[in-house]
Amino acid sequence: SKSVQAVRHSVQLSTLPPEPVIPSKQPLRVELIGGKRYSWCTCGWSRKQPFCDGSHKSRAQGLSPLRFVPQEDATVWLCGCKHTNNPPYCDGTHKQDFIVQNPASKLKC
Ligand code: FES
Repeated sequence: SKSVQAVRHSVQLSTLPPEPVIPSKQPLRVELIGGKRYSWCTCGWSRKQPFCDGSHKSRAQGLSPLRFVPQEDATVWLCGCKHTNNPPYCDGTHKQDFIVQNPASKLKC
């Protein structure tokens, strides 16, 4: 419909960074190696979740990965919903309604 097209048009013209998509409604368990550089995907489009594969450059311009270096080896839960307030770690935000009730059509995997 026209109204939907108008909304999409205004979003594309916005100068705000794009909203991340939700690749997973659950955190991802990852074994990190101390001293290694990691890039956590913030846009949600990467096919190498929870890590960046460069997809933000074409799918989510304005967003960039969160780079971090763990001090020691650790098994952690990294956020898969991309809405944590403590990135890159899961903080339980995925249990909130706006994630739980997000349409499955927006999920990537
Ligand atoms: S997976 Fe995002 S807050 Fe838990």
